[in-house]
Amino acid sequence: MRFDIITVLPELLESPLNHSIMQRAKDKGLLEVHLHNLREYGLGRHRQVDDYQFGGGAGMVMRPEPLAACIEKLKSERPYDEIVYTTPDGVRLDQSLCNRLSLRENIIIICGHYKGVDERIRQKYVTLEISIGDYVLSGGELAAAVLVDAVGRLIPGVLNDETSALFDSFQDNLLAPPVYTRPAEWDGMTVPEVLLSGNDKLIDEWRHEQSIERTKTRRPDVWEKFEGGV
Ligand code: ADE
Repeated sequence: MRFDIITVLPELLESPLNHSIMQRAKDKGLLEVHLHNLREYGLGRHRQVDDYQFGGGAGMVMRPEPLAACIEKLKSERPYDEIVYTTPDGVRLDQSLCNRLSLRENIIIICGHYKGVDERIRQKYVTLEISIGDYVLSGGELAAAVLVDAVGRLIPGVLNDETSALFDSFQDNLLAPPVYTRPAEWDGMTVPEVLLSGNDKLIDEWRHEQSIERTKTRRPDVWEKFEGGV
């Protein structure tokens, strides 16, 4: 799977995508992430990428020409399944959207900045607008990093048995159960007896019950989906 990320701040994305599971996915040849500095497509001597809003108002808007030039160049090199724009007014990212995106081959992500991108870029190119939550970040880069991480780890072969995504929170519309490691007693608190029993069936049952309990109390909205079999 390949991500091409268009950004005015490539430095912001370098570290989060070059460690741990993302790095392993790249090393295994399962994931490619290419950063494109929009400034290289900027206009004039100052490589301008933004301008004032028509109609007035505070904040700059990303001009269409540099974005279009970068997108067209990428599109001339390979077909893309999706052109994503990270924006607070997009659809909310959730596990089921991540699952669906992990089946795609080539995705462009446009990181918004300032007041966002000129609306005509959204109309002409963008196929999916994604928000990572109801709050406003100072740019789309961190949202893009979240997206690549959440989707990249689902690509078959990226995770091994130990880190398998099958038991993640949300994967079956339930939150994950509590987990414990050694020591069996710490600070006066013990590990639930059943986890030390060696009885896989009982352990599975206990984990399932805990997942249900957690989901009901912490995320009634997610519990509703589970009950409805969504
Ligand atoms: N850009 C700024 N805020 C964002 C958010 N919440 N999600 C995605 N992109 C963003």
